[in-house]
Amino acid sequence: MKRIAVLTSGGDAPGMNAAIRAVVRTGIDAGLEVYGVHNGYAGLITSDFAYLARRDVGNIMQQGGTFLGSARCLEFMTVEGRQQAITNLNSQHIEALVVIGGNGSQTGSHALAQMGYPVVGIASTIDNDLEGSDVTIGVDTAINVALEAIDRLKVTASSHRRAFLVEVMGRKCGYVALMAGIAGGAEVVVIPERELTPEEVAQQLRATYDRGKNHGLVVVAEGAVNNAQKLIEHFEANPGATGFSLRATILGHVQRGAQPSASDRMLATRLGEGAVRALVDGQAAVLVGIRNNHIVTTPLADIVGRQKPLDMHLFEIAQIMAQ
Ligand code: F6P
Repeated sequence: MKRIAVLTSGGDAPGMNAAIRAVVRTGIDAGLEVYGVHNGYAGLITSDFAYLARRDVGNIMQQGGTFLGSARCLEFMTVEGRQQAITNLNSQHIEALVVIGGNGSQTGSHALAQMGYPVVGIASTIDNDLEGSDVTIGVDTAINVALEAIDRLKVTASSHRRAFLVEVMGRKCGYVALMAGIAGGAEVVVIPERELTPEEVAQQLRATYDRGKNHGLVVVAEGAVNNAQKLIEHFEANPGATGFSLRATILGHVQRGAQPSASDRMLATRLGEGAVRALVDGQAAVLVGIRNNHIVTTPLADIVGRQKPLDMHLFEIAQIMAQ
């Protein structure tokens, strides 16, 4: 193998740049030429490739986002789109591809691998919902952004004896909400894996109020049935149910744009190096992730379409700590 390519796909995650840098520099160290693909799978279809030298990936590790650009590409979901991508890769003599992305992106890499093209995925999403890796690139930074917001909201909540609802991203996975809830000392955590009714949230806040706390903090995962909007609607219709007056903050994409934490830069560097090693060792159709602090590969076929289950013991911890 002489030439490989790397792309970032789906929602950007802090640390993607560090992963690109690691793929490029490990690839060059292994005697390969490395090409970057712009705008994810869309760039494969339009043949938007750029040769990357070591210096081209200098000074990017500390930046959030992805300097290659990312996209969600409908055309790549068709066989024709993927065939065009393979034709373009072959015409550039690119023999293998590294895909840095989350669940949807790795479904794309699996589909490409099934058509016989060598692909290795790198686990990268702020949702941390991918099987095959204990943590994914970006989630640590996203939790820290949520935490900073929570810490600040707690200050103003205490000053005004208010309750705050903070909604965090994560799709159908409650990992970010649960971790930010525990680390931020939330009184209530609402996640898709353990739904609470608005009445239950109100009861828990009321109990907090009755215990004499001067603030109430509810961390809500965006994927919960009773997300921040639903809860606010309920509390507006039932004023006084919680004891506190309520405000809501929806963090949204703010969580994606931060400078990557040390932990995300390290993870991205190790996974990027691991992906090139896997390709050089002749592996393909695998996801590179981290388990028990070891870089491991898992067949893409075993991870696509699945969501990593949450450790529900953490939910029990959150509840005990909220007392
Ligand atoms: O998958 C990452 C993520 O940030 C989710 O947490 C969120 O639901 C989604 O992407 C938002 O997608 P978009 O950037 O397309 O609005």
